[in-house]
This record gives sequence, structure tokens and C-alpha cells, in this order.
Amino acid sequence: MAGGSGSGALDSVSPPIQAFVQTMEAVLGDVAEGRAGEADIGPAAMNALAEVLAAPDLLTTAQCQGAADCYRRHLLYADPQGRFTALCLVWRPGQASVVHGHTAWCTVGVVSGVAHEERFDVVEDEDEGGVRAVHLVGRDADHRPGAVLMTRPGPDGVHRISNRGPDDLVSIHVYGRDLTVDPTLINVVYDE
Ligand SMILES: [Fe+2]
Repeated sequence: MAGGSGSGALDSVSPPIQAFVQTMEAVLGDVAEGRAGEADIGPAAMNALAEVLAAPDLLTTAQCQGAADCYRRHLLYADPQGRFTALCLVWRPGQASVVHGHTAWCTVGVVSGVAHEERFDVVEDEDEGGVRAVHLVGRDADHRPGAVLMTRPGPDGVHRISNRGPDDLVSIHVYGRDLTVDPTLINVVYDE
């Protein structure tokens, strides 16, 4: 993974991430056997992430290292069956994502720093054809340590995350697909 590090092996991840993975495996097992529905997976991931965010041994020092040019992704865990991928993202002050939607469910938990989230609506672009993203004024939110947010796949979940604070932002992102080869496969990028 570009700029990343980490492992997909369960025995090499921290105990809190192991606990998160075990909860996810239980939920996904319930879905496979008809005891829960697909729509239950994202909210369950959100709750499981909230349980471990404050654990002091959640991340290693290496997993909290940023990069000068762009926010940095560290792979934390990849489900061997490709059902979900957990990443740690480190954002230095001033770094931001592009405006993007997602190709699968996504939940984000803030470990340290403040995640500034702008939300967008997707509209037809009469001049250019296609679509563009329009900033939803008054819908910005600051997510602080312990906060967990959920975004739906498709045009309802278009946002931009940035670090506008003075300290690094460290956030954990769990996505409902295999991203071990290319983490950008989760994103659908929009023009403003
Ligand atoms: Fe996102």
C-alpha cells in the first residue's frame, strides 16, 4: 500500500483491534446465517469501533506517523475474506481529503485531534453535463476524540475531511470492502 504499513494478520494487531475484528466476525457470521441483515453491518462496525477508540494500546507509534505531502494511510487489518478493511489515517495540520463519496459503507472514529467534516449534495451540472458536489452550508461538523461517524455508500454520503487544528489528527477508518491492493477504490471523487 502506498505510504502505508501494517498487516492483515490478526495475531499481529493490537488487542483492541483484535476485539474489534472479533465483533465484526460475529456480526458478519450472523449476516451469513440470516440472523442479521446487510444493513446491520455498518452500524455494528460503528459501535464496535466506539468501544475501542480510547484504548491506550490501540495504535503503535509507527501507526501514528504522518507524512509531509499528504495524509498518510496505515493498514491495520484486512479481513481475509475481503469483507472489510481497517486503516489508520494520520493528518498533519492543514491536510485534507478530496471531496468524495464511497463505494461501500464506511465508519470513522477519531483517536486524537479534530476531524473537520464538510458535507456535500450531488447535483446535475447543466453547463458541463454530469454531476458536481455542492457544499451544504451549515452542515459542517467537528469530530473530536471518541466520536464515530458513519457514511453511507453513494451520493448521500459525500464529504471532505480535513485537519484544521494545530495538532495531528489520527483517525481509524473501516470500509466494507477489500482495500489491500488500492485503498482509493473506496472513493468516488467529485468536482465542486
Ligand atoms: Fe470518506
